[in-house]
Amino acid sequence: MALLDELEALRTSALQEIAAAETADAVEAFRVRVLGRSGLLKDLMARIKEVPPADKKAVGQRLNAVKTEIETAWQERKDAAGRAAPESGPRPDPTLPGQTQPLGTIHPVTQAMENFAGIFEKLGFTVRHGPEIEDIFHNFDALNMPDDHPVRDQADTFVLEDNAILRSQTSTVQARVMEEHVKRFGGGADMPPIRIVSPGRVYRPDSVDATHHYGFSQIEGLAVDRDITMADLKEFLALFARETFGAETVTRFRPSFFPFTEPSAELDISCVFCRGKGCRVCKQSGWVELGGCGMVHPNVFDALGIDSELFTGFAFGFGIERVAMFMLGIDDIRRFTENDVRFLGQF
Ligand code: DAH
Repeated sequence: MALLDELEALRTSALQEIAAAETADAVEAFRVRVLGRSGLLKDLMARIKEVPPADKKAVGQRLNAVKTEIETAWQERKDAAGRAAPESGPRPDPTLPGQTQPLGTIHPVTQAMENFAGIFEKLGFTVRHGPEIEDIFHNFDALNMPDDHPVRDQADTFVLEDNAILRSQTSTVQARVMEEHVKRFGGGADMPPIRIVSPGRVYRPDSVDATHHYGFSQIEGLAVDRDITMADLKEFLALFARETFGAETVTRFRPSFFPFTEPSAELDISCVFCRGKGCRVCKQSGWVELGGCGMVHPNVFDALGIDSELFTGFAFGFGIERVAMFMLGIDDIRRFTENDVRFLGQF
């Protein structure tokens, strides 16, 4: 009987086919082609009307049995395919390294500032900050730079308003800290000592080139007590230099001038790269300049209400970028402000 033969042939091929279906797509394609509304099985079932009445019952039963068998096989494959890995696209390779999120780094100038401040903290100094927008008193008058002082020329400073400028030095924080100290304790015999450092940005209308910038960073230091001498200044700064640049670092003090210190000096350290022999970095001199320092001028104490007969102090101010450039081998100060992560990420 043709119908039954065809049914058996379909059963055999359908069961083979569904057993071989690997993907969810293949299982679904099988369903449409074999079990679907106009699928192969439906076609055969429709032909039951051609069967002589005597055989109808047996053929009908066989049709239903084959249909159930194929449906069961399809359902099993479908469930198995659903549990398997997603079928579309390439399978993920679990042996590949994971994707890392890029982490930022601390700016090299900030690193140097934190490093310097940290060493002074170990020596008993407290970190204090002052405003970048300053008034004339704290930037000039309190620091013994009277009206006719050349650095007070407007062309030498960023002027915002009559009495508001961008600070040209972190020495302003010396003035603010002493002022506040005197307010709390008075500037006489009962005044406790002061030891502070103040890292921060300063602004000068310099033309920008490889070694100059209108915005750069300094770290300021101030120690005030009853009998501080220049020997203390030298020893503290020598300690700082050895701690920062290595135990073999030698310091040198050259006479200099600053309005707010007397005597004043420039501090040099022996070149970290050639240990003082002379190389390209130190321009063959064997020395690198760190910054200015000196003994606090009595006029500064007087302006801020500290008894200059009772107290002495030392102060210093170093440029940060220059030292960072020297240490890191950077030849252009502009790199620090270009925000190029390829540069900044190296430190
Ligand atoms: N303020 C000075 C400058 O910007 C640096 C300086 C020199 C600070 C001597 C000091 C100091 O505290 O004692 O050039």
